[in-house]
Amino acid sequence: MSLFNLAVLISGSGSNLQAVMDAIESGSIPNTVIAIVISNRTEAYGLERAGNCGIPNMVIKKDEPEKLLDTLKAYDIHGIVLAGYLSILPPEVINAYSGCIINIHPALLPLFGGKGFYGIKVHNAVLASGAPYSGATVHLVDCGIDTGAALIRGVVPVYDDDTAESLQKRVLEVEHLILVQAVKALAEGKIGELIKNPLTVVNDNDKHGVRDYAKELSELADVLLK
Ligand code: GRF
Repeated sequence: MSLFNLAVLISGSGSNLQAVMDAIESGSIPNTVIAIVISNRTEAYGLERAGNCGIPNMVIKKDEPEKLLDTLKAYDIHGIVLAGYLSILPPEVINAYSGCIINIHPALLPLFGGKGFYGIKVHNAVLASGAPYSGATVHLVDCGIDTGAALIRGVVPVYDDDTAESLQKRVLEVEHLILVQAVKALAEGKIGELIKNPLTVVNDNDKHGVRDYAKELSELADVLLK
């Protein structure tokens, strides 16, 4: 059986990359290989994580769109995962891999998404809004910013004593879970199913009404997608 070749694009620590590497290693994402890890920043720790696992990795800067596309073709890439990639993909890449690019965003899209909502700014905005819940969304990538169809959302509570950092940590944990699920769906050709029926997941041990909220959100998501 031929393998599904992934490219994972990063900009920083690469903990989401690590979650995908671990899931492939443990067999949770079968018949899949990370063929290349690409960072737009030389200092991204994720490059080291890839190197430690023997995964080819390189830096391609924002102003090298042709190099990016050529590299993806050279590695015979079937699907692209944006795992903390803080740059905009060039349209030629989006068009060439339409329907096969997913991104993880640290909020419950369509809330707290779009231009300017990245990193700790997202969590600051959630806290400032007084929202009782937050989470993460894996979505398809189109030419807009965080506008592609939502595939899987992971919901977490926001606590009264949360700081942006403590919320970020809780959200990051759920990111790892839903990204692995979404990559598996991508490799199995099941993204279409998730577009029709996006999943909403919650932490099983949570007792803060997250389940009810997730259910409501799921219904809201269905409405928003139609
Ligand atoms: C994650 O919160 C991701 O959602 C955001 O950037 C962060 C990257 O974390 N876009 P890591 O590099 O995967 O640890």
